[in-house]
Parts: sequence; structure tokens; C-alpha cells
Amino acid sequence: MAKRSPDVSWQDAIGSMLRRIETTATSLAAGFPHYGDPDTGSWTTSPAGDWTGGHWVGELWLASADTAEPRYREWAARWCAALRPRASSDTIFRSFLFYYGAALGDILCNDPNGQAIGLEGARGLAAMYNARAQVLPLGGEAEEASDVGDGEASIDAVGSICGLLAWASEKTGDESCRRIAREHALRHIDFCVREDGSVGQSATFDKQTGAVLRRYTHKGYSERSTWGRAQAWGMLAYVLAARWIPGERAFLEAAEMTAEWWLARVPVDNVAYWDFDDPAIPNTFRDTSATAIAAAALLKLAALAPDRARGQRYREAAEDTVQALVAGYLTPTDAEDRRPPGILTQGCYNPRIGLATRNELIWGDYYLFEALQVLAGRLSPLAV
Ligand code: GLY
Repeated sequence: MAKRSPDVSWQDAIGSMLRRIETTATSLAAGFPHYGDPDTGSWTTSPAGDWTGGHWVGELWLASADTAEPRYREWAARWCAALRPRASSDTIFRSFLFYYGAALGDILCNDPNGQAIGLEGARGLAAMYNARAQVLPLGGEAEEASDVGDGEASIDAVGSICGLLAWASEKTGDESCRRIAREHALRHIDFCVREDGSVGQSATFDKQTGAVLRRYTHKGYSERSTWGRAQAWGMLAYVLAARWIPGERAFLEAAEMTAEWWLARVPVDNVAYWDFDDPAIPNTFRDTSATAIAAAALLKLAALAPDRARGQRYREAAEDTVQALVAGYLTPTDAEDRRPPGILTQGCYNPRIGLATRNELIWGDYYLFEALQVLAGRLSPLAV
């Protein structure tokens, strides 16, 4: 397919991001990169990977598969092993750690330790399942500032849960993990996807029946607003559910509804504000990480959409989105830019607690890098 973005080279952008990955890998002795200072490039790290460390390891697996350079494989293997103790953490966000940080090692590089550690993570996650409510709860150690435990849920990890658990079923031949992922993803359509295709982040549910008791947000502007990452995580959730759990029409429908809502509401320059309903727009934060997640999801949806014209529209929207991120937010953004290269600037972690509101965020880096690999023709959009 012809590239629509002659002023941006996917290859150059990948080159910048590889330089950033290399600098990060050689500068950090311990502690996973979590969020970065966009001017100096220095990282705030998380000792055990928080919910974000798997995205760092996922970047290393992608780099290893792309370049075949042994150092990326060595770094990926080392950081993947450092995730192993997290297989028993009581948090649903383990799915991010073990899908991107371990299962990708098997999927992209055929790495036996990636497979073994990914399966440990999947088993630990599946053990949280509440069969009566047919949902995986956030868990007592979920990395949110409040409202965690066995009666709370959020859209954020639904996609990586589908990927991790369905991948585990394919590896072991035991379909129970994929069934859990299917029920969990279906339950979250009710919890989080609104009739107009917008996505609310969070819900409290009845632990006996799974019925919704309250809909709210952990990180958005308000209960009724649409937090940018909720929308993006929702898009990714249902396109990954459709990819990994075939035969369930509701998943593709939810993927298309949430994508259509994003495309109708995203600003004309294609980069989302942190919350679509912040009354301070345009004088508020962008969230390049939400935008990168959406771009990665649109590329997958382009490959899955049964209608070819729709698929083409999703692909073109993804190209325009990645172009906007690379041209406006990936360092260097102009000839005078002296910041370290390959930083995706202006991610917005959590304005509610004043955390990293204009920063490099490791998961934003991951999804931009994945999208660039797809656009450059070096990765199948449905591989991961
Ligand atoms: N909990 C995942 C996020 O902050 O996007």
C-alpha cells in the first residue's frame, strides 16, 4: 500500500526509537523505565515493573525480531526474567507484564524462557477469575491510586488479558484460559462500552452476580467524561479480543464502534487530549500515549475489518495518526531540537494526582514502536 505521509520516514522514526531503546538499555542497571523527563531523557524507574515494565521488554522483543542483533535479545531475556516474581502479584495488570514482556518473546523470537515465564504469568492471572461474576477483578495490588480489590474492574487491561490468556491456551491446548478471557471481555462491554461507542474506564460489580453497581473512572476527568486512554484501551481491547478469540461477533462490533467514536472526536491534528471532555481544551494536556495505543489498534482493525473500504479508512487514519506523532512529538521534532532522539514527548500519565503530565511514558513508546514496525512492513499487524 502506498504511504500517505511523504514527509515522515517510518524507517527514520524506527531508527530514532532504536537509539532511545539502546540508550535506555545501557544506562539502566536495575529498575524498569516507567516515565521519562522529555528534556534530559532521564528515567523514573519502577523496581519491580509496576504495570508498565512489560512494555519496555516488549520494545526489546520487537527490536530483537526486527534487527536480529543479539544484544536486543540478551536485554529482552534479562528483563523478561526480572518480571518472573510478578507472576504472583495480586493485580490484573499482570497481563501487560506477561503478554508484552514474556509472551511476545515466544511469538516474535521463539524464546523458550519467554514462553515459560509467559505461561507462569497467565496461570497466576487466571487464578484470579471470579467464575460467578464471570470476570477478573482488579485485585488488591492493582496499580491505581484508589478503588482496587475484588469488586472493581477497568477496561485498561482487557486487550492484554485476551492476548495473554488465549496465547496460553494455544500453547497448552487447555482452552480454559481463552474461555476466561472471552467472558471477561464480554462482561466489560456491559461495564465500559457506552451506547454511542465511547468508553468509560471503570466499574464496581456485584461479586456474586457480576451485575454493575457503579460506573466511574480511576484516571479520567469525571465519571461521565471520556478519558483518552479509556477510549484507546477499549479500541485495543476489542480488536485484540477479535484477533485472539475468533467467532464472537460482539468483539469486532465493539472494536468498530469504539474506533468510529475516536475518529469522529479526535482533534483535527489527530492527537488526543488527555480527556475528550476536559472543559479546559485546548489549554490542557495532550496524551500521546493514548494516541499511540489508538494507532496500533487501528492498524489491527484495518487488517480485521470485513469491509475493505472501512479497513482502508482505518489504515489511512492510523497512518495519519502515526505521522502526527512522529512529526510533532517524537524527538527531534525540528532541526534545533537538542533533546535525546527517539523520545515520544507529551504523554499524560495522571493529572488527577499531578503525575507525569507532559512526559515520555514507556507504554506510549511501545505502541508507537509497534505501529511503526507495522507501517514499515516489518511486522504483521495481527502478530501481537
Ligand atoms: N492503568 C493503565 C493506565 O493508566 O493507562
